[in-house]
Amino acid sequence: MSRILAGIITAGGDAPGMNATIRCCVRSMLANDGKVIGIKRGYKGLLEKDFEHLTSRSVGGIINLGGTILKTARCEEIMTNEGIELAAKNLNEIQLDYLITIGGEGTFRGAKEISKKSGIPVIGIPASIDNDIEGTEETIGFDTAVNTALEAIDKIRDTAISLERLFVVEVMGRGSGFIAVTVGFAAGAEFILIPERAFDLNDLAKEYNKMKAMGKSSTIIVIAEGATNGYLLAEELKNSIDAEVRFSSIGYIQRGGSPTVRSRVLATLFGSKAVESLLIGKKDIMIGINDGNVCIRPLTGNKRTLSEKDIAMLTIAKNLAI
Ligand code: F6P
Repeated sequence: MSRILAGIITAGGDAPGMNATIRCCVRSMLANDGKVIGIKRGYKGLLEKDFEHLTSRSVGGIINLGGTILKTARCEEIMTNEGIELAAKNLNEIQLDYLITIGGEGTFRGAKEISKKSGIPVIGIPASIDNDIEGTEETIGFDTAVNTALEAIDKIRDTAISLERLFVVEVMGRGSGFIAVTVGFAAGAEFILIPERAFDLNDLAKEYNKMKAMGKSSTIIVIAEGATNGYLLAEELKNSIDAEVRFSSIGYIQRGGSPTVRSRVLATLFGSKAVESLLIGKKDIMIGINDGNVCIRPLTGNKRTLSEKDIAMLTIAKNLAI
């Protein structure tokens, strides 16, 4: 039987643990007499045929590195018919047997279209700091991002207490609030604002005044960037409540850094499951973790909605903010 040739691509926003995933996929393929082509710079590089043969040495010393050695890119073109056709043509030209796509739900949507057009089966490995991919309870990189954000918020809490201030702290999550829910819960934030739930400024001001009347002298509002503009919210609060208000955006440090144990473990388990599935001919599936078990799920490319656990965390955080 000819050696299986798999392509590996990282697309969309980078996430800590992508390199650990690449390392595992490459070495697992090589251990099973397979060959691996790395597709550089995400779907943009796929359209430009930016390919590199990968060996075991290519992935040495990267398990602890944030980012992706394959690089990635945002690529609007891939969601056009012309882009999908060119991607399919370029993959068939190198006679790829499989495409392993590492990224978020947008990456998976592109992969599904490419598979349909090219006939090349794809396997999705969920890697995004947003943790909002249907089919898995946790994505590679999420644990690292929330630990980075928590460290920053704990530091902000020090100055909030010292100067008796209210801080609006913006975390990442353009379309989902999973980072905000988890890190707000862990940080003991008094308010957690997310895209999935509307909020009213007057109600927030009333809640704040109640807390102040109970003697609370510092407040942290954790807001997902997709909920509203955190800076403008802070400016509005300055005119709505009697408090010294400041704004701080944690920003892109949430996307980098050395992956945590959890992110590396997920990366390596997911990568191993992906190659194992590929070797037994599984097609157009994704790898996920559900109820603590690494498993395969249909590759839908849909966003994940808030779970009962997330909703419970929001309720508990609100009840404890007294
Ligand atoms: O999808 C991950 C993410 O970090 C979002 O949380 C964030 O809103 C977005 O990417 C930022 O996109 P870009 O890196 O293109 O600015």
